[in-house]
Amino acid sequence: MKKTSLFVGILALGTVLALAADGNALWDSNCASCHGKDGKGQTKMGQKAGVKDYSDAKVQAGVDDAKAFKSTKEGLTEDGKTKMKPFAEKMSDEEIKAAIAYLRTLKK
Ligand code: HEC
Repeated sequence: MKKTSLFVGILALGTVLALAADGNALWDSNCASCHGKDGKGQTKMGQKAGVKDYSDAKVQAGVDDAKAFKSTKEGLTEDGKTKMKPFAEKMSDEEIKAAIAYLRTLKK
C-alpha cells in the first residue's frame, strides 16, 4: 500500500470516529430527555410524549433516514398536536444526521 492511501485511510477512519462520538453527545444532550439514552423512551418526558421504543428493529424499520431527518429538523405533529419540536434552529443538518446515525446504533 502506498503511504498516501494509508494516510487517507486513517483520515477517513478518524472522521467516522469523530462523527460517531459527536452523534452520541448530541443524542444525550438533545434527544435522550424523551427518547432515553438507550432509545427506549423510558423517561418521564418520553412516556408523557408517547415515544416509541427505538431499540426495537421493527420501530426503526418504520422510519427511513429521510423521514427521520425531516421530522427531527421540522418537527413532528400528529392530529394537530406537536409531538416533537423542530430542531432546525438548535442543530445544523450535520448534527441532526449525526444524532440520527447514533439513533440507528441503538437498535438491538
Ligand atoms: C420532547 C420530547 C422529544 C425530544 C427532546 C426528541 N423527540 Fe424525537 N420524538 C418524540 C415523539 C413524541 C415522537 C413520536 C413518537 C415516536 O416515534 O417515538 C418522536 C419521534 C421521533 C422520530 C421518528 C419520526 C417519524 O417521522 O416517525 C425520530 C427519528 C426522532 N424522534 C428523533 C429524535 C432526535 C434525533 C432527537 C434529538 C435531536 C429527538 N427525537 C428529540 C419526542 C421527542
